[in-house]
Amino acid sequence: GVTAKIAPSMLSSDFANLASEAERMLNCGADWLHMDIMDGHFVPNLTIGAPVIESLRKHTKAYLDCHLMVTNPLDYVEPLGKAGASGFTFHVEISKDNWQELVQRIKSKGMRPGVALKPGTSVEEVYPLVEGANPVEMVLVMTVEPGFGGQKFMPEMMDKVRSLRNRYPSLDIEVDGGLGPSTIAEAASAGANCIVAGSSVFGAPEPAHVISLMRKSVED
Ligand code: DX5
Ligand code: ZN
Repeated sequence: GVTAKIAPSMLSSDFANLASEAERMLNCGADWLHMDIMDGHFVPNLTIGAPVIESLRKHTKAYLDCHLMVTNPLDYVEPLGKAGASGFTFHVEISKDNWQELVQRIKSKGMRPGVALKPGTSVEEVYPLVEGANPVEMVLVMTVEPGFGGQKFMPEMMDKVRSLRNRYPSLDIEVDGGLGPSTIAEAASAGANCIVAGSSVFGAPEPAHVISLMRKSVED
C-alpha cells in the first residue's frame, strides 16, 4: 500500500529564514520538504541550487524532496548528492535519451529517483521509466505549468494520476500545483499519495490544520 507524504513547497516560504521555515513546517506535521530547483531556462524563473540545499541540510534531518526544473539535470546529481538531497525528481521532457544513466547516477549518490511531467506531456511517456530494469521510484504529475507557486489546479490532469494508479498500485504518485483544502479530495481520490502544497499551506493561518486535512483525505 501507499502512505501519505505531505510536502510543503518551500518556494512559498520566506527564503531569508529557510531553516526556521523548514522547522515550522515539520512542527506542523509535514513529512517531506519540497525544494523547487529552477535554472531560469527550463522554466522562466530562477530559485535555488545545491548550495542552499547544503545549508538547509545542516539544520534539518528531514527528507528533502528536490524537484529539478532544469535543462541539464545530470549536472546537478553530484552536487545535490553531496549537499544532502533525499529525492531527485527530473523532468521527462528533457531526459528522453539519457534517463537510464541519470537514474543510475542518482541512485549511486544515495538519492531516490523520480520523474516529473508537465501538463502538456502525456502519461505514457513515463511508463518506460517505471517499468525498466532500473526504475524511478516516484512519478510527479504537474497540475500547473511549472515555474511559479500560487497557480490554479488543473483537474484534467487527474486522468494521468488515475492511469498511473491503475497500472502501479504501490507507486509513489506526487501531485504539484494548486493543491489545498479545495482540491485535495479530487487528487486523493484519483490516487495521488504525495501532496505538494505551497501557497495553501504557507498562506494559511494554521498550516498544521491544512496539512492534517490533506493527510486525512489521502488516507481515507
Ligand atoms: C511550481 C512548483 C511547485 C509550487 C507549488 O513550479 O513546482 O512546487 O511551489 O506551489 P502552489 O502549491 O502554490 O501551487
Ligand atoms: Zn515543485
